[in-house]
Amino acid sequence: MQQSSPAFLSMRLRWLINGLDFKVIFFLFFVLPAAILGIYCHGQKISYFLRPLWQSPPKPFIPITHYYHENVSMSTLCKIHGWGTREYPRRVYDAVLFSNEIDMLKIRWKELYPLITQFVLLESNSTFTALPKPLHFAMNRDKFKFVEPRLTYGEIGGRFRRGENPFIEEAYQRLALDQLLKIAGIEDDDLLVMSDVDEIPSRHTINLLRWCDDIPPILHLQLKNHLYSFEFPYSHHSWRASVHRYKTGKTKYAHYRQTDYILADSGWHCSFCFRYISDFIFKMKAYSHTDRVRFSHFLSPKRIQDVICKGADLYDMLPEEYTFKDIIGRMGRIPHSYSAVHLPSYLLENAKEYKYLLPGNCIRERG
Ligand SMILES: *[C@@H]1O[C@H](CO)[C@@H](O)[C@H](O)[C@H]1NC(C)=O
Ligand SMILES: *[C@@H]1O[C@H](CO)[C@@H](O)[C@H](O)[C@H]1NC(C)=O
Repeated sequence: MQQSSPAFLSMRLRWLINGLDFKVIFFLFFVLPAAILGIYCHGQKISYFLRPLWQSPPKPFIPITHYYHENVSMSTLCKIHGWGTREYPRRVYDAVLFSNEIDMLKIRWKELYPLITQFVLLESNSTFTALPKPLHFAMNRDKFKFVEPRLTYGEIGGRFRRGENPFIEEAYQRLALDQLLKIAGIEDDDLLVMSDVDEIPSRHTINLLRWCDDIPPILHLQLKNHLYSFEFPYSHHSWRASVHRYKTGKTKYAHYRQTDYILADSGWHCSFCFRYISDFIFKMKAYSHTDRVRFSHFLSPKRIQDVICKGADLYDMLPEEYTFKDIIGRMGRIPHSYSAVHLPSYLLENAKEYKYLLPGNCIRERG
């Protein structure tokens, strides 16, 4: 009975604490909190790194080889693709949902200008995340006088449902774009380009598709991916842009996968290619992936400027890839490119005005 005396108990406790050797205390008070903090800060990275374990890659596209040289005739080009040549070209509609990408829109429309029957643009006073936004196109319309005779412009009021999934507002706006296309006079077998403003098909690609017969009814366009400017090309895998032979009642404006076919090397995708730091902040706050802004310092102008010049990631995330090889291959900063060959011609003709999009000019204006 002596064994349970208080003195014995306290001795046992001391023995226990001593016996909880240093390793255990170290684990409880240092390793465990550090691990929790680490998971809190980098949990997204851990799950992205393990993506090959929890998500299988999408079904691969069936690539269509794209042949082009400026000196080869259209009938020869159509023939190598296995297509016939038309007697006259199809009419072409370019339709975009506009947010604030003024410079990209100008470069896009100048690239496609000679080929387009109607430029169709819709803008809303709401972002997809239900924040009010100015009608940037309406405010800058004088910069686009060159398309005025061929422009169908539409404004749509946002529904401002707080807390709703942003994809619902996006779908609502795309539906309105279908209506606007009808107003613009689109007809069966006209070509319709569906893409974001910053997904720019090259002129020769659209020219080929409007002149050749028997092209697939829907075709995705494989674009070269760039981040911040043409100084940072990082992959060839942009696929969301598509071209459709319009079918009344069937063709719906969409930005997801719509067919297995993709035409190689068809243009450029330049994400976050903004002139002003304030535009980066707006986009980070207002569009679909706002959950990626995990810490408020991500929106600091100084940090954003540093990230741009380094070719690093605005959200400090790992690349969205499906194999460990691709994740590791694309980890870290994007190497600088010093090539400005095969870029949209309007960009080079106005190289001074768009200096910030060309290699060696990463410093942005505050705005
Ligand atoms: C392309 O064609 C033009 C005129 O037909 C000719 O002057 C030029 O040398 C050709 N260029 C090439 C690269 O074949
Ligand atoms: C958005 O536009 C709609 C329709 O033009 C208008 O009724 C509404 O007041 C606008 N909302 C804001 C926040 O500007």
